[in-house]
Amino acid sequence: MTETSPTDLRETVRRRYAAAATQVTEGGSACCGPAAIEVDENFGSTLYAADERDALPAEAVAASLGCGNPTAVADLREGERVLDLGSGGGIDVLLSARRVGPTGKAYGLDMTEEMLALALANQKQAGATNVEFLKGAIEAVPLPAHTIDVVISNCVVNLSTDKPAVFAEMYRVLVPGGRIGISDVVADDTLTPEQRAERGEYVGCIAGALSFAEYRAGLEAAGFTSVEITPTHGVADGMHSAIVRAVKPVA
Ligand SMILES: C[S@@+](CC[C@H](N)C(=O)[O-])C[C@H]1O[C@@H](n2cnc3c(N)ncnc32)[C@H](O)[C@@H]1O
Repeated sequence: MTETSPTDLRETVRRRYAAAATQVTEGGSACCGPAAIEVDENFGSTLYAADERDALPAEAVAASLGCGNPTAVADLREGERVLDLGSGGGIDVLLSARRVGPTGKAYGLDMTEEMLALALANQKQAGATNVEFLKGAIEAVPLPAHTIDVVISNCVVNLSTDKPAVFAEMYRVLVPGGRIGISDVVADDTLTPEQRAERGEYVGCIAGALSFAEYRAGLEAAGFTSVEITPTHGVADGMHSAIVRAVKPVA
């Protein structure tokens, strides 16, 4: 079996999500809205409440490729600064922006040009002014240290080829006392990486998933405390969508 290099894998991920963004951008029609691109009911916009979906541009909803609803668990408050890692078409950034209000700010970070273009169009359509989309990798966040109150992410950490770097970057950008509220695919601790790969593709958010113990250890190694990983629904045999919460200690 030939090994895929991290660089090749990341390029495969980028191409997969560029194609997904293009499908939403080009798939729409004046009467029926954009074509939804979710893989099945375990992923995508059905994981959001109807009133949340109704408040957003149809393209932002159609581009939803997450495995949960991180804004529902992050307990966002007026005035907070939020960063969404791997923001895609922008659904969680736009929902966060509504929750933090005009005194807060919601940043979205994504490496895929086509997704960023879709997110910017959705921001414009939503009329959201407290929003900024940034191009870059979640392993090297283009923001200064100690500038973010809450890091959210929806089904993206599993796609990273350098997860310790992602955890370190979350920790770096958060203020002391800051927190994370993430949705991600997580594997049972009994599943080997080979068994995870048998259950689904890397680009489909399955093969690259960490186990519960690996996720906890990775966050704790970066310095996080109060780590909680709660499965919400199954996405494959022994693999779950989960809510991941943790805190950057004050001292
Ligand atoms: C499964 S989609 C999820 C998008 C969005 N969070 C949502 O819920 O709809 C993954 C997104 O993460 C982005 N992405 C994947 N790996 C990344 C990385 N290493 N750095 C930055 N963005 C990444 C992709 O371009 C894509 O937009």
